[in-house]
Amino acid sequence: MATLKIGHVEVENGILLAPMEDVTDPPFRRVCHRLGADIVYTEFISSEGLIRDARKSRQKLKIYEDERPVSIQIFGSREEAMAESAQIAESANPDFIDINCGCWVKDVVKRNAGAGLLRDLPAMRQIVKSVVDNTKLPVTVKTRLGWDRNTIVITDVARMVEDVGAVALAIHCRTRDQGHEGLVSWEYIAEVKKAVSIPIILNGDVRTPHDVKRAFETGADAVMIGRAAIGNPWIFRESHHYLKTGELLDEPTLDERIEVALEHLRNNIDYKGDKYGILELRKFWGGYLKGLPLAGHVRRDLVVAPDLETIEERLNRYKEEVAEHEQEQTERRERYLQEQE
Ligand SMILES: Cc1cc2nc3c(=O)[nH]c(=O)nc-3n(C[C@H](O)[C@H](O)[C@H](O)COP(=O)(O)O)c2cc1C
Repeated sequence: MATLKIGHVEVENGILLAPMEDVTDPPFRRVCHRLGADIVYTEFISSEGLIRDARKSRQKLKIYEDERPVSIQIFGSREEAMAESAQIAESANPDFIDINCGCWVKDVVKRNAGAGLLRDLPAMRQIVKSVVDNTKLPVTVKTRLGWDRNTIVITDVARMVEDVGAVALAIHCRTRDQGHEGLVSWEYIAEVKKAVSIPIILNGDVRTPHDVKRAFETGADAVMIGRAAIGNPWIFRESHHYLKTGELLDEPTLDERIEVALEHLRNNIDYKGDKYGILELRKFWGGYLKGLPLAGHVRRDLVVAPDLETIEERLNRYKEEVAEHEQEQTERRERYLQEQE
């Protein structure tokens, strides 16, 4: 069994929710936590925004008590800004602070933040050190294998961040030039594990309980899931069950899916108010309804529904539609079998 220890947080076979901009806000993190995510992360927060007291950045610091353990992720390229924003993040009382050294987006890397730091390891070292030196909280780093295939530096990065006091390293097993596409290279995990003693968290294309098991077989101390949790937060519970028993749980039923989607929606409304709570859940409906019969119709109605009541009513009607649809399918099958006799 793999153990991940970060400060006071200790988890066995830890399956973590990856930081994702515009996705891992408190309403979604809370749902993932309830369904088995062992640690959740905020989306990345700009250190420059935090020190300017920008409302958008400050808002992202908010955490719910019942989503812990939670990490606040910050990014930036200036040591002073990162040091100050570490203190600001600490005052929001997360369980630890994570530094983003892996974001591939142009706007971020051109400022030498995120994965931009993979081209300048001395700068990355200084950034990590300045955060470690300016907070009492444990500090972790999330990065990639390197800038491109010709410059894989992950083992050096691991040694370096351990040396300046980071207590865990999450590795998205791609290079910056791959973005989110192309093959992931989990095989680097074993090499990095040999080089350092801090825990190593594997990330990248972990999509199913089988993938989680294979990911642990690399020697990783924990596994981090991003996209596969969007609209499918059951993946944490399903993966834990599979690791423990070797058996796959049944897929969530239609009722369970609707119940969790509504829980997410209510959290969203509670957190953002009616208007934005409903608007910003739109991007999740596709995931919650994926693979279900007649899903296209209901989705089209849900994305224009103005309030919670309309959404609840539509989903209840959808349950009836699916029941009728299944009944029709059964009758059709029976008729067909009779005709064959
Ligand atoms: C919509 C989206 C937003 C993301 N935002 C962040 C972020 O804020 N911080 C970060 O470290 N990584 C971010 N990532 C990268 C993920 O954390 C993760 O490394 C990547 O998606 C690979 O994992 P996956 O294959 O499990 O999705 C984001 C990815 C996506 C798809």
